[in-house]
Amino acid sequence: MKFSKIGQFVSGESGIVQLMNDLGEIQSTQRPFNLLGGGNPARIPEVESRFRLAIEQLIRQDGNFEHFIGHYDGPQGNLIFRQSIAELLKKECGWPVEANNIAVTNGSQESFFILFNLFAGEHDDNQFRRILLPLTPEYIGYFDAGLGQDLFRTYRPKIEHLGPHRFKYRVDFDSLTVAGDVGALCVSRPTNPTGNVLTDTELEQLRRLAAEHNVPLLIDGAYGLPFPNIVFSQATPMWDDNTIVCLSLSKIGLPGVRTGIVVANTQVTQAIRGTNAILNLAPSSFGPLLAQQLLNSGQLIDLAENNIQPYYRSRLEQAMHWLDIALEGTPYRIHVAEGAFFLWLWLEGLPVSSDVLYQRLKARDTLVISGSHFFPHSDASWPHRHECLRISYAQAPDQVEQGIRIIGEEVRSAYAQGGT
Ligand SMILES: Cc1ncc(COP(=O)(O)O)c(C=O)c1O
Repeated sequence: MKFSKIGQFVSGESGIVQLMNDLGEIQSTQRPFNLLGGGNPARIPEVESRFRLAIEQLIRQDGNFEHFIGHYDGPQGNLIFRQSIAELLKKECGWPVEANNIAVTNGSQESFFILFNLFAGEHDDNQFRRILLPLTPEYIGYFDAGLGQDLFRTYRPKIEHLGPHRFKYRVDFDSLTVAGDVGALCVSRPTNPTGNVLTDTELEQLRRLAAEHNVPLLIDGAYGLPFPNIVFSQATPMWDDNTIVCLSLSKIGLPGVRTGIVVANTQVTQAIRGTNAILNLAPSSFGPLLAQQLLNSGQLIDLAENNIQPYYRSRLEQAMHWLDIALEGTPYRIHVAEGAFFLWLWLEGLPVSSDVLYQRLKARDTLVISGSHFFPHSDASWPHRHECLRISYAQAPDQVEQGIRIIGEEVRSAYAQGGT
């Protein structure tokens, strides 16, 4: 069989394919791995039991079961759900949105695939436009959305050293320019992989830049506000007619239901409606139905504020403590953890690359993600790109503690041995 260029690309080993394959393979082995790699949310017993109860109640109510198994929703997503989400966003965030400003997808990953391809690529004026990522490292799942075409223009951050063992990335507005070939700006807030939360001032500046250049600003709220609210610093949710906010049910603990929510002006939500019809006929009904049940009983925000955020905050403190102990005496730095559930470790001057360190850790049954995947390919020569690891602290505490201890041993040994 002869595949097209796109066919060849999707059957190859792009970053996100490699990552998801690794996770799948490891889940199917019998060996106990320390899983500090993937983006799976934690299993929080109180949250899971509320989901279980909501599903049981849902199925018992007249007509619901038949609705979710035997019925296509409209291509923009279930209307009642979109109305309820719009009400929630008005109440919680003060955004002036209606049901028509909401479109449902089968997960944020799909939302970004659609949105990037709406704004990047060849335009009517024959100009090839790109998505500007003002601060990389950024989410690995973006980089392959062009199916082989590079859709991104990226910027390195300013690095602020905070004490001997912490640091923070900031948008480098001195070098950021929005040229004519930019189709949209995009940021994840909180950022996967670093746990950075762009400040309100940074976000406002990006909002202004986008408006001045008549291109939209995309905000990836997969970990953000108002739900799942895995945010530990002060941050205000932001939306306007020129801003597109993408939310998801995954990180509240429902990655299996594959539900993404796009909040945008109606030109954009209609384009998503069209893409849904072409790709999927309709988005899945189950996630919206379950979320509706949680919204009706006021549980969605309550779970985020009172269970999910405090849970990750305490897990973060624990993991930071373990990592500080494991790396004591080495020149490590951890990005200030302001949100999401990752620690971003910077090992300056590490004699081996983060890819080699990843392999050494995997050989010791500890899975992390090499930081190199979160930088654009064009930045290969920047040493920083090869000096970072992403460590998830969402899985069972004993796994995280053990994994961090092994990371400490391998990092020490790499610094001690030099480039061998
Ligand atoms: C920053 C970010 N955006 C989007 C996604 C995609 O999430 P989903 O497709 O599960 O909604 C993820 C998943 O890990 C993520 O980390």
